[in-house]
Amino acid sequence: MRLNLIAVLLLFVFALATQSCQKNTELSGGEGDNTNEGSFNGGTSHNMGKNCMSCHKSGGQGEGIFTVAGTVYDAQKTNTFSNATVKLFTGPNGTGTLKYTFQADTRGNFYTTGNVTFGSGLFPAVQGKSSTNYMSSAITTGQCNSCHGVSQDRIWAQ
Ligand code: HEC
Ligand code: HEC
Repeated sequence: MRLNLIAVLLLFVFALATQSCQKNTELSGGEGDNTNEGSFNGGTSHNMGKNCMSCHKSGGQGEGIFTVAGTVYDAQKTNTFSNATVKLFTGPNGTGTLKYTFQADTRGNFYTTGNVTFGSGLFPAVQGKSSTNYMSSAITTGQCNSCHGVSQDRIWAQ
C-alpha cells in the first residue's frame, strides 16, 4: 500500500518534470509561434542579394518584419551558397558568447522575424561546409545586405 503511494507520487513528480522541460525547449531561442525564420533546405524566399529590410520592415510591403536577414554566396561571389549557418557572437572571431544562430536556405537567404538584441554590437560569423568567415567589426543592425553587395563584398562561404 505504502509502496503504491510512493510509486504514484514519483510518477506525478516525473510527469511535472518532463512537462516543464518541454516548455523550456519550446521557449528557448525566443521563438514564439509567430516567428518566421529561414531553415536549411527551405526555399520560399526570394530577392537574393537585395536588402530584405527595404520591404520586410514595419509598414513595408514584405510579409513579416525581419530583424536579421541577408544572402550568402559562394567563394566566387557569383552564385548563391545553400544551407550556410550564420552566427552572432559577443566577441570577434567566434569569441565571447554565441547569442544567435540562423540557417540559410537553398537560395542562400537567411532571415528571421524573431527578437534580436544587438546591445553594444554583435560579431557575425558565416559557416559553410569547410570553413567559417568572421566579420572583424561589430554590427548593430541585422540588415546584412545593406552593406554587403553595396559598399562591401557579398557575404560568402565555402
Ligand atoms: C521589393 C520588396 C521585397 C524585398 C526586397 C524582399 N521581399 Fe520578401 N516578400 C516581399 C513580399 C511583397 C512578400 C509577400 C508576397 C510574396 O510572397 O511574394 C514577400 C514574402 C517573403 C517570404 C515568404 C513569407 C512566407 O509566407 O513565409 C520570404 C521567406 C521572404 N519574402 C524573404 C525575403 C528575403 C530573405 C529577402 C532578402 C534577401 C526578401 N524577402 C526581400 C517583398 C520583398
Ligand atoms: C554596416 C555595414 C555592415 C553590415 C550591416 C554587415 N556587414 Fe559584414 N562586413 C562589413 C564590412 C565593412 C566588412 C569587412 C571588414 C570587417 O570584417 O569588419 C564585413 C565583413 C564580413 C565578413 C567577413 C568577410 C570575409 O571575406 O572574410 C562576414 C562573414 C560578414 N561581414 C558577415 C555579415 C553578416 C552575416 C551580416 C549580418 C548579420 C553582416 N555582415 C552585416 C560591413 C557590414
